[in-house]
Amino acid sequence: PYVVTDDCIKCKYTDCVEVCPVDCFYEGENMLVIHPDECIDCGVCEPECPAEAIVPDTDDRATKWLELNRDYATKWPNITRKKDALPDADEWKGKSGKLDLLSP
Ligand code: SF4
Ligand code: F3S
Repeated sequence: PYVVTDDCIKCKYTDCVEVCPVDCFYEGENMLVIHPDECIDCGVCEPECPAEAIVPDTDDRATKWLELNRDYATKWPNITRKKDALPDADEWKGKSGKLDLLSP
């Protein structure tokens, strides 16, 4: 599957949800996650993210985020429609190490 990394935190552009053919994105307050058992690995969401927050699970960056995606995908509600990005999204874009800022 593909996974959302902490690059999404405080950005949440939501362009990704519009293209997912199986609607497997789930929404937290300041981050989205992908349900790894529902993702069909199509890859169309990856280039849609302005923050480059989505990676395949074969990426080195993915390992540490896979369980986080699985965990929150069962707790957060499904999201299928694009909405406005978070207000300071452009300022937070490209910043790494944002896990401490996650609002569960
Ligand atoms: Fe959805 Fe495809 Fe992205 Fe998986 S890779 S989350 S199925 S758009
Ligand atoms: Fe997050 Fe990128 Fe989607 S910032 S909400 S993974 S478009």
